[in-house]
Amino acid sequence: MSILCVANQKGGVGKTTTAINLGACLAQAGHPTLLVDLDAQANATLGLGLSADQIKATLFNVLVDQVSGADAVHETQIEGLKLIPSHADLAGAEVMLQELEHRETILRRALEPLRGAYEYILIDCPPSLGLVTLNGLAAADTVLIPIQAEYYAVAGVGLLLNTLALVARELNKNLRVEGAVLTMVDSRAALSTQVVESVRGLLRDRVFETLVPRSVRLAEAPSHGLPISLYDPKGKGTEAYKALAEELVLRSPAHKAAAPAH
Ligand SMILES: Nc1ncnc2c1ncn2[C@@H]1O[C@H](COP(=O)(O)OP(=O)(O)OP(=O)(O)O)[C@@H](O)[C@H]1O
Ligand SMILES: [Mg+2]
Repeated sequence: MSILCVANQKGGVGKTTTAINLGACLAQAGHPTLLVDLDAQANATLGLGLSADQIKATLFNVLVDQVSGADAVHETQIEGLKLIPSHADLAGAEVMLQELEHRETILRRALEPLRGAYEYILIDCPPSLGLVTLNGLAAADTVLIPIQAEYYAVAGVGLLLNTLALVARELNKNLRVEGAVLTMVDSRAALSTQVVESVRGLLRDRVFETLVPRSVRLAEAPSHGLPISLYDPKGKGTEAYKALAEELVLRSPAHKAAAPAH
């Protein structure tokens, strides 16, 4: 099993869209998956259609009130996809966590007992490198970095890689970069193609082959509380996130270990 942190301190690059839709595609392909909404904006929670009255406990309660991870797990409309939801109150956690001992590893300890129940745990990070995001990085085995295919995309990636190296040294020696996934790619635009090439130049084989296209349907799906695979099952957004899920599974050490050695 593996815990992936979907992170990029740059805002609006497709972290939540990737977390929701990759999670749904993994679950639909038969891999039990838990999505952890680590963002006070609660976009992943809303995007999966959970309303306030359905929520019994959120990530805030897990981080600050010592509620167990298991008690905050909620069903979603997708079989095999569970969610630990978030709420606007998580914005206050950044300050409250400062008071606590071992404040960077609270999420890691909360998720540890859940590992056995899932093949994948995806953590949707907020656009920051604060204490809440550090909790995500400390809890993760690998980091999945969505990069928007636009001109300034690569600028912040160096900072993110430096932070990951620091976290790996100080908090989580097993942390690895899973890979980068290019989002909102417009294959007809020369600029998009150039950005794809420059990201591949920088991160080499750590960039996923799958390119997530710009698609209005992907942007619309959350307002219906649905992942793209239910909102537009035959569309190119679904095709992309299914392909990304397949690539991820094929790259996993467990799959490689099971594959014949030739
Ligand atoms: N492939 C895509 N095609 C079209 N629109 C997209 C695509 N991916 C994301 N979007 C839209 O772009 C906006 C930002 O995406 P998203 O919320 O996934 O980014 P984020 O990195 O999670 O943002 P934040 O940093 O605020 O958490 C949203 O309105 C989303 O619907
Ligand atoms: Mg987000």
